[in-house]
Amino acid sequence: MTTLNGTIVRANATFCRWTGYAPDEFIEHSTIQLLLTVGGRLLFSAQVAPSLLLQRSVVEVRVDVTRRTGGVLPTMFNVSRTRHGDDEFDEYSFFVVEERHRYETALIDARRKAEQGLEARAKAESALQAINRRKDEFLATLAHEPRNPLAPMRNVLEIFSLKVLTDPQLIWGRDVFKRQVHHMTRLVDDLLEMSRITQGKLELRKARVDLVTVLTSAIEDSRANVLASSHELNVAIPGEPILLDVDPTRLLLTIQNLLDNAVKFTPPGGKLWLSAHRSGNDVVITVRDNGIGIPQADLESIFEMFSQLQNAIDRSQGGLGIRLALVGLHGGSVQAHSQGPGQGSELVVRLPVAEEQSIASATRQPSMTRPGTAAGC
Ligand SMILES: Nc1ncnc2c1ncn2[C@@H]1O[C@H](COP(=O)(O)OP(=O)(O)O)[C@@H](O)[C@H]1O
Ligand SMILES: [Mg+2]
Repeated sequence: MTTLNGTIVRANATFCRWTGYAPDEFIEHSTIQLLLTVGGRLLFSAQVAPSLLLQRSVVEVRVDVTRRTGGVLPTMFNVSRTRHGDDEFDEYSFFVVEERHRYETALIDARRKAEQGLEARAKAESALQAINRRKDEFLATLAHEPRNPLAPMRNVLEIFSLKVLTDPQLIWGRDVFKRQVHHMTRLVDDLLEMSRITQGKLELRKARVDLVTVLTSAIEDSRANVLASSHELNVAIPGEPILLDVDPTRLLLTIQNLLDNAVKFTPPGGKLWLSAHRSGNDVVITVRDNGIGIPQADLESIFEMFSQLQNAIDRSQGGLGIRLALVGLHGGSVQAHSQGPGQGSELVVRLPVAEEQSIASATRQPSMTRPGTAAGC
């Protein structure tokens, strides 16, 4: 820092080190001009001093500074005129040109490396996207192909079901065939659903449906499964219709999956509960079991695509970990509750009831709502 005529009043340690002076050697005794070479002094009086007077700052002035021990230091400085109380001073910041040059080269180098890194990353990302697209296409093909052989197999099953069989071996064979075809169909449906989502081709076909009818057919559908595992299914659903505006096929698949999960993630001879009740403008569907349970830390992650928990994999019976990830598609919400491993699980789906029904029930007396009916299976 200097006075307006150039007398140095303050210099930091780095400037002293560069020039070779002790602070008290030039402070108050030397001027900034005296530190410059002859050429530098000329430049100072011809350009720097007038510019400071006019615009109060000058940037990037290239001058050589003489060192105490002889020799010169190539520098560049910026200077600005500042007020401190009643007095005005000129504040200089010097850079050693070589260091600045080195610093700039390092900056350019770093920028080039960062750009190369970004380019490599963009390439890797687009390669990954291409692989991901191919995987999605492959899964879509994989999902479609088994539909063709499955159709005639289902037809044959229909014919078998119409026959009255007496041979226990044939009856056993037909039941195995039926269960496996049923299972295959579910897997293929799941794969198809997933590939529709990943390819953005999912279409929800919403219609007015009665939840009670859907629940009844889901129960009917899982009856054989429940019996095969010697579980007891307790059902408590309303006796009157509950109208929803949803895609009926997908709602049925959702409830079937909740029941399937309860069946397969509960050791044989377990207890399962299915209930549904109105709650304001929503209907709450709950499927509970006393099975293997879900660790607290995984209560959220089970809703992610392909998520199958370690303790469930042995029992997954070839599931794909897709169905729970699709529940939110109906515009409703789903939550999992469990006290932890071995403590059973409770899956709760909440869906809005159809608008007219919610308006109608709002004007109805609460006492007119019929209580739920209970049934065993
Ligand atoms: N009732 C349940 N009890 C214990 N774990 C469950 C239950 N329901 C779901 N899960 C866990 O959530 C995962 C995802 O379920 P889902 O999407 O239906 O896939 P999948 O049935 O094909 O395994 C299951 O693999 C399991 O780890
Ligand atoms: Mg499942």
